[in-house]
Amino acid sequence: MAETADRAESTRTGEVRSDILLEVRDLHVHFHTQLGLVRALNGVSFSIPRGKVLGVVGESGCGKTITGLAIMQLVPHPGRIVSGQVLFRETPDSPPVDLLTYDRHGPEMRAIRGNKISMIFQEPMTSLNPCYTIGDQIMEAILLHQTPDRVEARARTIQILRRVGMPNPEHVFSSFPHQLSGGMRQRAMIAMALSCTPDLLIADEPTTALDVTTEAQILDLMRELQAEIGMSIMFVTHNLGVVAQMCDEVVVMYLGKVVERAPVDDIFYAPRHPYTVALLRSIPRLGSGRKEPLEVIQGSIPDPYAVVPGCPFHPRCPRFITDLCDFIAPEETVIDGSPQHTVRCHLYPGSTPPRVTVDGGAAADAPTAVDGRG
Ligand SMILES: Nc1ncnc2c1ncn2[C@@H]1O[C@H](COP(=O)(O)OP(=O)(O)OP(=O)(O)O)[C@@H](O)[C@H]1O
Ligand code: SF4
Ligand SMILES: [Mg+2]
Repeated sequence: MAETADRAESTRTGEVRSDILLEVRDLHVHFHTQLGLVRALNGVSFSIPRGKVLGVVGESGCGKTITGLAIMQLVPHPGRIVSGQVLFRETPDSPPVDLLTYDRHGPEMRAIRGNKISMIFQEPMTSLNPCYTIGDQIMEAILLHQTPDRVEARARTIQILRRVGMPNPEHVFSSFPHQLSGGMRQRAMIAMALSCTPDLLIADEPTTALDVTTEAQILDLMRELQAEIGMSIMFVTHNLGVVAQMCDEVVVMYLGKVVERAPVDDIFYAPRHPYTVALLRSIPRLGSGRKEPLEVIQGSIPDPYAVVPGCPFHPRCPRFITDLCDFIAPEETVIDGSPQHTVRCHLYPGSTPPRVTVDGGAAADAPTAVDGRG
């Protein structure tokens, strides 16, 4: 397939399109635990366009947080990035650099982390240090990356706290995390992440712990700041309503793999992967009958230590093809010739690799095309 050949070529040469800020290629992260090996990321690939918001969705444990942490080289012990590339192209004119070639504790990575790429973590209370004031924690990044002048750093910190809508920023500057409400802590995390106007913000469930009013305010604020600074956002969430509101493109993950990637409208109006279809059917829709029960995705996510042969979704898939889906892993293929919409599913032409015979030749028996909608 031409697309696959192009991809292979660009992987070899390290080319990244100029409108792409960051491209993750074939990323594998493993956790070696006492109970066995967890393949948390099993060949994740996607790209984040410059100045756009990419949503990352999928059930708990599919690898959303670990993907964000791997980009920042912050995968916790006993996790390990086994292979892959994280290609960062700071400006359209600069060459891409593979962040994974940098030492995770080295000066290059420190210059990127919290400065060019920053992250709002899933748990604000565990990410803010309870022993330091909010002001000291935000100022730390400004002093490290922007100015050594403490007076100026303090003024910038108060300015960014005001910008994220924090009431009485001078008072909050000297407060400790436990003295703030959940919404204020979340705003403090956002202020910290935005303090150095990053090129990329990785927001991991930034509003899950908040009430709906505060959530709406924080989302408005992030959109506003995103347009103002022109940064890209990787927005990790379980909430498909938030995806519709915030995102330009969406990546759907399942068991450490990207199974579908498309512009946001295609995900909602023309989803192709059976898992994406099931996810969408499991959320309430306006206009559906009040007594209509919500559909649930049948079965449950396999044990993280299990190795599922073939398509990882096959034990739960309503469209499962016997002797194919349970044996052969589908490859990424494009939908209707558009490289913007890709899917990993045997229902679509180009997803089934040619079967290799004993003498090394290809036995052409890929399934015929079917309409996989709904
Ligand atoms: N410290 C760890 N030790 C062992 N396995 C881990 C560890 N951290 C994560 N994992 C495994 O990595 C996989 C991906 O986890 P991750 O936290 O990225 O999921 P997630 O998609 O962010 O889920 P959630 O929606 O619940 O936040 C899971 O199978 C998880 O069990
Ligand atoms: S490859 Fe097969 S099992 Fe996997 S999602 Fe497609 S139809 Fe379902
Ligand atoms: Mg997570």
